[in-house]
Amino acid sequence: MSAASDSAEIAPDRLTYARDELLESGSYAAPLIAGGVRCHGGFDESGAYRSPRTIHRMPAVRAWQARLARDGHALLEIPRAAMPPQYPNVEQAALLLENGVRDPIVRTLTVISIVEGFGAIIRDVRVPDLASLVVEPIEGTALAHLGGGLFEAHARDESGWKDEGGHKQMWEAARDLALEKPKIPGDVLLRMMGRQAARRRPERPFPQLDETLERMLAIMAQVLVVEIFAEGTFDWGYRLLSNPKVSAAPEAAGAMVAHIRADESPHVEYLRTALSEVRARTLRTVDGKTLSGRSVVDGLVHRILRDVTRTRPQEQRDDLRDSLAEAVKVAPNPQRLLDELGALDTEWTPPAHTGFEPAAG
Ligand SMILES: [Fe+2]
Ligand SMILES: [Fe+2]
Repeated sequence: MSAASDSAEIAPDRLTYARDELLESGSYAAPLIAGGVRCHGGFDESGAYRSPRTIHRMPAVRAWQARLARDGHALLEIPRAAMPPQYPNVEQAALLLENGVRDPIVRTLTVISIVEGFGAIIRDVRVPDLASLVVEPIEGTALAHLGGGLFEAHARDESGWKDEGGHKQMWEAARDLALEKPKIPGDVLLRMMGRQAARRRPERPFPQLDETLERMLAIMAQVLVVEIFAEGTFDWGYRLLSNPKVSAAPEAAGAMVAHIRADESPHVEYLRTALSEVRARTLRTVDGKTLSGRSVVDGLVHRILRDVTRTRPQEQRDDLRDSLAEAVKVAPNPQRLLDELGALDTEWTPPAHTGFEPAAG
């Protein structure tokens, strides 16, 4: 059965789904095997890749989006201009590999796979009793399905489920195909944890909200920004790993990144839909008043965009600086390589405005 005929069986305007439906993948003509690991998703008879758990999830998200539009509400858009460039950029990464300097790239690819695996935390996000915290009805929305399959499907996509690999394993496979099972530096995870621990827990921007609700919305906004910015990382990974000059398996490694990228679309879409539904509604505060959902969602997105555009470019450089100086020593002419890398730097200034600034006054 093809994806098209599977989807066609579902009424396009259906707004309510069972948890099992949102987790259903349907059948595939062939499985996806990566680096000897059976991964999620698979291929239809025509050989086209079909993402996991989308047979009902995608039509559902489209129906919720259509409803939002019918009710006259906009879908949240995160500006791509706010996306900081990847460091090292594709040209710098290729130059390093061509000079036999593999450690920084192995490190970056390993960080990507670990971050993907962390995505599983979305299943632990507590969903409060939304019907009592949102003034308007929420039946037949993405919001009403977060705890009913959407968070769980997302978690399974990122970190795998049972004996099926997810994005974590797929990135590892892409890395190992392209760079022929490189030795992984032992301190990658440790460094990431160190940086995480150095971050202070942010104060609550909306203390008048139910704390579980505020936390859930903050995590959703954070994950949405990470997912959208990941498009830049995926583009980087695709271009680098499908470059035959530096990749041992340009087709297979590039295809793997393309499959992962295809799987991310439902994540971005359900998150922006649910946040847009909140934006179109009114939230009850703990002191018996109300607050516009729009001010809450925009306030959270603004803070995240402001922080990420300020800190991420520097963090990526800091992560690599020490190891880069050490790693280039294997190159024939380390200083010349460092100079060439510097000349290829991407100029980037964070945008002056996030577009989600709180209204003055
Ligand atoms: Fe992912
Ligand atoms: Fe994702």
